[in-house]
Amino acid sequence: MALKHRAYPSCMATLPGYAQLTFPDAPEGRPYVLVNMVMSGDGKIVIEGTEQGLGSSSDQALMGQLRSHADAVLNGAETLRKSGSSPLPASEEMRALREYRGLPRAPLGVVLSRSGDLPLDGEFFTSPAFESVVFLADSAHDDRRRAVEATGRRVVSVPVGDSVRAMLRALRVDFGVRVLLCEGGAALNGALFDADAVDEYFVTVGARIVGGDVALTPVRGDRAPSSALVRPLTLVSAVTNPETSEVYLRYRVGTTQGRTSS
Ligand SMILES: NC(=O)c1ccc[n+]([C@@H]2O[C@H](COP(=O)([O-])OP(=O)(O)OC[C@H]3O[C@@H](n4cnc5c(N)ncnc54)[C@H](OP(=O)(O)O)[C@@H]3O)[C@@H](O)[C@H]2O)c1
Repeated sequence: MALKHRAYPSCMATLPGYAQLTFPDAPEGRPYVLVNMVMSGDGKIVIEGTEQGLGSSSDQALMGQLRSHADAVLNGAETLRKSGSSPLPASEEMRALREYRGLPRAPLGVVLSRSGDLPLDGEFFTSPAFESVVFLADSAHDDRRRAVEATGRRVVSVPVGDSVRAMLRALRVDFGVRVLLCEGGAALNGALFDADAVDEYFVTVGARIVGGDVALTPVRGDRAPSSALVRPLTLVSAVTNPETSEVYLRYRVGTTQGRTSS
């Protein structure tokens, strides 16, 4: 399937890759959800505890291009603890593109947590360059909740048994989020897929073999793999980068007949 293009101001006309994507309207009651990850050739998403070193600067640029479309960028709490979380598009060009699209210069930063055990002195809570919100399960201890609230960032309580759906509903209805970009980690991605709430899956395959005894892959969960819950993917585009030997894959979740298999 060919990628759709739209007219850009002349200064934007030469932008490559994911800057020129278009997406369908958000479904009823939740945003249109994109998941974006980078993994090694052997399917690993971390080296020594973080994603650092898996993707090239070209991959980073593509990530920034995806952010240019997003109303909000979501991470799981463990990613915030391990890697930090910032929704900022890295380049001035991408910030300008957002303005051209009528979006704020930075997406809303979003983190989902059950525990409320979060790095409150980190950029996610202190940066004046973007707004952020924590969706916190109602099972979190009150002292943790109060500590997060004391940062001045918004905290939204979600039911622990239905946190993903409640968060998505609130993002769409209360925060006006139409395009949500989830940048991991694996547990959050797993919860989104299990809620049948992922529309597109972007994954960069890096030219690395990580090996080792840690097998964190892009999507994981507490349940055993089940053939009833396998999600089919339909390839939208596959772009090779001869300079970095990376492959950039874009999938729509579902078959060509519909969002899920029959
Ligand atoms: N290669 C890549 O592209 C990439 C991208 C992102 C992250 N990473 C790496 O992935 C690792 C983190 O992945 P991970 O799977 O361990 O953790 P994660 O998905 O980042 O975060 C898991 C945490 O998110 C919260 N959470 C997840 N699902 C929830 C739900 N349904 N309801 C409420 N809270 C929920 C919980 O927070 P609490 O623990 O606070 O309760 C949970 O422990 C890091 O090492 C990071 O560097 C790699």
